[in-house]
Amino acid sequence: MEFNLTIAGTTSLVGLIGWPVEHSLSPQMHNAAFAELGCDFAYVPLPVRPELVEQALKGLMALNFVGTNVTVPHKQAVMRYLDELSEAARLTGAVNTIHIQNGHLLGYNTDAIGFLNSLEEAGCDPQGMRVAVLGAGGAARAVVYALARSGVDSMMVLNRTAERAAFLVDDLNEAFPDSTMTFKALTSQALAAVADQVDLVVNTTSVGMYPDVESSPWPADVPMPAQVTFCDLVYNPLETVFLTQARAAGAPTIDGLGMLVHQGAFAFEKWTGQAAPLEVMRQACLSKLAGA
Ligand code: ATR
Repeated sequence: MEFNLTIAGTTSLVGLIGWPVEHSLSPQMHNAAFAELGCDFAYVPLPVRPELVEQALKGLMALNFVGTNVTVPHKQAVMRYLDELSEAARLTGAVNTIHIQNGHLLGYNTDAIGFLNSLEEAGCDPQGMRVAVLGAGGAARAVVYALARSGVDSMMVLNRTAERAAFLVDDLNEAFPDSTMTFKALTSQALAAVADQVDLVVNTTSVGMYPDVESSPWPADVPMPAQVTFCDLVYNPLETVFLTQARAAGAPTIDGLGMLVHQGAFAFEKWTGQAAPLEVMRQACLSKLAGA
């Protein structure tokens, strides 16, 4: 995908700090959006060694950056250096977006809102739904927080390591005492038992993600009910084995591209104050995924 960006002395800079950062789609996605709207902004990937996170944030301030995205392994580490945290950042315990305003570092977790906006875009309203969340890592935390905020009926977190699911549920139950959250080990038996009792299943594990493209968190011998919506946060590949299984069962599916685009859109709007060009961002991601 081609776009023209002119970088000059007036250009506002945003970046991505992580280690490594070279596989991210965000530079392509944001720079295409800046070019589309004629924003005098540029987005640069910034590899930051784990021991240099504090210096990197000071450096961004010194260099007059408007903000940065934050990726693995710095999403927790940056938090102690920030001046303010959004509720989502505080309750998920992770920051993926920083906005630098008047010398203050403001931390956000845009994965939660990105996930909800992707559901809405797909015509899925989680309010009142019974949900199974597969996985209990950072992505699961954002999803469980987002769903608890949007008034789901109940949530079950299933994870290979059951203690990690227990920890997540305990933690978020404290913030949302009225919600019904339970956990289980992610096994064939557990999935078979919950399959008929939920409306939405969200895969937040990395199972099925490139290069592990032949795997699925859902065993082939456990039927997928056609009335359940299956959502995968994995976007590389877009059509995971998990979603292929769901489609074959006649169930509605939601892929991971929507969340990627919407979490980026929220950051874009914080930094620029302008509405994000969603379609351009989506196309930029698709062409990067296709290797263009
Ligand atoms: P992220 O921030 O993307 O969520 P993470 O915090 O490393 O990444 O979490 C990865 C999730 O995928 C975890 O729920 C992990 O399960 P464990 O907590 O048991 O490690 C899950 N996961 C990764 N590989 C898996 C596999 N082969 N089978 C089942 N679950 C897996």
